[in-house]
Parts: sequence; structure tokens; C-alpha cells
Amino acid sequence: MPVVTRDWLNKLPKVELHLHLEGSLEPELMFSLARRNHIELPFATVEQIRRAYRFSNLQDFLDIYYQGANVLQEEQDFYDLTWAYLEKCRQQNVIHVEPFFDPQTHTERGISLATVINGISRALTDGESRLGITSKLIMCFLRHLSEASACDILAQSKPFRDRIIGVGLDSSEQGNPPEKFSRVFAKARELGLLTVAHAGEEGPAEYIWTAINDLKVSRIDHGVRAMDDPKLMAYLVATRMPLTVCPLSNIKLHVFDDMSQHNILDMLAQGVCVTVNSDDPAYFGGYMTDNFVALAQAFDMGKDQARQLVRNSIEASFADESRKRTMRALLV
Ligand code: HPA
Ligand code: ZN
Repeated sequence: MPVVTRDWLNKLPKVELHLHLEGSLEPELMFSLARRNHIELPFATVEQIRRAYRFSNLQDFLDIYYQGANVLQEEQDFYDLTWAYLEKCRQQNVIHVEPFFDPQTHTERGISLATVINGISRALTDGESRLGITSKLIMCFLRHLSEASACDILAQSKPFRDRIIGVGLDSSEQGNPPEKFSRVFAKARELGLLTVAHAGEEGPAEYIWTAINDLKVSRIDHGVRAMDDPKLMAYLVATRMPLTVCPLSNIKLHVFDDMSQHNILDMLAQGVCVTVNSDDPAYFGGYMTDNFVALAQAFDMGKDQARQLVRNSIEASFADESRKRTMRALLV
């Protein structure tokens, strides 16, 4: 029996800093959007889709994830996707979220950036007014595409500057190091945007260094390979550079063989600002509570560790100080 129960973990107020909205597309919604938009899916049933969600690595997953996103066509589709995620947050007591979206996945298919951002941000606004869930939106560049393409999207996003807190970097990590995007990240910072980047998921610890030094990130997404480099570990502890770790994702994509091999609680004990997140919950088998439960089952995680993980997320978040204070006070 885990030291903490699922019920206690579900009630614990939580903050999510690493969530791809396209990765929260559940098979049921995929089907209903395909029907609404007259799109043919290569699957006949929800069960068939779920059975296809067996991945041997990141690229394997990304191929299916980009295919799934094809059903998103209209502004209302992006609204429904985001709203479904916020409903999950409400069920699992997630009180603040900083979701990612991948504009190029949609603009490359001829969907306008306005369609994408208007749908998402309308749902986020409703999430705050109706559910009390606060949010900050992060626009990710696809690292398998060129820096020129990222620059183009950044330029297109200028009319929506007030809806976006920062930019990130995702997709195929190996062979696409952070420094490939140094100039577009510099331009983003000049516009006042904050920066984050996926680094050290499948790629080496060196990519974490270049995300920090070249892209001047405020957080590292994943970052679990940091433990390969003692100097980097010392740096992360000294600076409290946050890592947005995604336990279930790491198992599904074989970053670790088994949850018992995961290093998040080891890093927590060493003083790294690690946080728990769900990444692509519709594909990886669970939302925020499920990620905490998976840790509780694999390790004898206690209430103090769970609370510290949430406290780290509050510290690492882009919420303003008064919201942070409110959230901290909820952690009894
Ligand atoms: N890594 C890289 N790119 C992604 C991921 C991830 O875990 N999820 C969605 N895009
Ligand atoms: Zn991710």
C-alpha cells in the first residue's frame, strides 16, 4: 500500500507546467471531431486507437500524435480540446496550468494561427471564470523544422502577444539541439516573452546546458538526463532551475525501463526543483493525479514529498506573486 492514497493525492491542489494541449486529445473527442469535420481516421474504434498507443521511443509517439491533431480544424475544435483538458483539471484539483500548443502542426495544414489561438484562449478565459483555474499559455516551436519556420511563426504571433506568456521547444530532440534556435529565442526574449525548452528527455545532458546558456530558459522541460552530469546537477541545485518532469510519459517512451528506475525523487532529495506533470495524458495513460499515484506506488512517497513537488511547481510557475501566495496557502 502506498503511504498516500489516490484520494489524498487527488484532493491535493496541483499545478501543471508541462502539458501539450494536442496531447490531451482523447480518442473519444478525436472520433467526434473527425465526424464533425468529415475526416477519415485510420482507426475504426476507440479501442483500436488505444491499442495503437504503444511506443518504443519519442519519434514513434510523435508520428501518431501529429496524425491525431489532423482532426482539429475549426476554432471550436481548439476550444473543445482545451475545455476537455480543463474539465480533467477540475476533477483532479489542478488549480493553475501553463499549457503548450504547437502552432506549426496546424499552420502547416492550412489552419490559421488565429483559429488556433482564439479557440484555446477563449477556453482558458472560461476556465478561469467558471472553474477558477488560472493559466498562462506557451507557444512551442517544432525543433525538427527550421529556425526560419520558427521565426515566421513568431512574427505571425505578434498580434496575439497578450495571449502568450512565452515560447518553448518540442518534438524530435536528438539531432535538433537547442542552439539551432538561438536567434529565434533571442527575438522572442526581445518581445518580452519568457522561454522554456524540452531538453534531456532522450537527448544528452549537454542539451540542457545549451538550453540554459543559449536559449536562456526559465525552466527545462523533462531534464531527467541531468543526472548524467554532476556539474549540471550542482548548477540546477544552486540556481533552483526547475525541471518539468513527466513520470508516466518517461515510462511510455522508454526513457526509463520501469517507474522504480525513475530519478525524480532522487533529484528532489538532492534539492533540484523538480515538478510533476502529465505531458500528453491522452497518449500516456494518465493526468496529474495518475502521475502522482504512479510515483506513490513505485516509491513510498509521503505527503511531505508530494507537497514539496507541488510547492516546486508553484515556485517554477509564471503566475504572479499574489496568485503564488494564494496557491501556497492552499497547501496545508
Ligand atoms: N517531447 C518532445 N516533444 C513532444 C513531447 C515530448 O514529450 N510531447 C509532445 N511533443
Ligand atoms: Zn513534452
